Amino acid sequence: MTPVLTRGQALAHARQHYQLDAIDARVLLCAACGCTATDLIAHDEAPLAAQQAATFAQWCARRAAGEPVAYLVGGREFYGHWLHVSPQVLIPRPETELLIECALAAGLPADACVLDLGTGSGAVAISLALARPRWQVWAVEQSEAALALAQENAARLGANIRFVYSDWFAALPAGQTFHAIVANPPYVAEGDPHLSQGDVRFEPRRALVSGADGLDALRHIVQHAPRWLAAGGRLWLEHGFDQSEAVRALLADAGFVDVHSARDLAGIARISGGRLPT
Ligand SMILES: C[S@@+](CC[C@H](N)C(=O)[O-])C[C@H]1O[C@@H](n2cnc3c(N)ncnc32)[C@H](O)[C@@H]1O
Repeated sequence: MTPVLTRGQALAHARQHYQLDAIDARVLLCAACGCTATDLIAHDEAPLAAQQAATFAQWCARRAAGEPVAYLVGGREFYGHWLHVSPQVLIPRPETELLIECALAAGLPADACVLDLGTGSGAVAISLALARPRWQVWAVEQSEAALALAQENAARLGANIRFVYSDWFAALPAGQTFHAIVANPPYVAEGDPHLSQGDVRFEPRRALVSGADGLDALRHIVQHAPRWLAAGGRLWLEHGFDQSEAVRALLADAGFVDVHSARDLAGIARISGGRLPT
């Protein structure tokens, strides 16, 4: 990168030389300079220190080669919380916030026991625990690296969560039951062309792929959840844009009632859920 004098010039260089998206360039520059977006806009004439310019140039080149911005800066905001992320975890998606909203709006008991399956960075469990400090939130994960990162995020944000290293329900204490279970499991089909496009190329396969039709994890969770739910217990699952019908059928077959799907801001059914009979 040619020598850069000001923040404004650095941004222009990122757009012209690396063809970066304006928002990506701004996020990378804020992280390189340790400033907020507001500060960046108000002081675009401020000079970059040599180290800031070097970091920014390196990140621009890596972003131009496809690396996700969240992995470069080491974090992503989710439900108003800054979560650390690494290539060992899925980058939390805005549509997953709908899973939080479903659980918060359901009228669960004030001291509800809630389980997040496949917690990754801890995004869902942490958001629930911070929104409802009296809930007893549990989180399960099968990747040791992800579990460690989720624990670090929870400790830094002050979220009280019981973390369990487990293959879905396998390592949970026998006899434990939950008022609700939430999960954003892997749901992409093996060989799906989206796996070789964009940011997902850099994300862990274990977080994305689940069998020939993408439904293996969803089938497993729906089939086993009734044993871990109290009577009247609730289950909400995130799934692919074209999987809502299949997931609703799985829920009904497993004995769930009030089976329904919730739509994201784009009008796509992204979450399906149901309730065990009382
Ligand atoms: C789509 S990611 C979701 C991560 C996070 N909940 C979120 O919404 O950002 C799915 C997560 O499930 C975890 N996972 C995959 N198979 C698992 C299993 N058998 N048991 C527990 N967790 C599993 C993956 O490691 C990954 O972190």
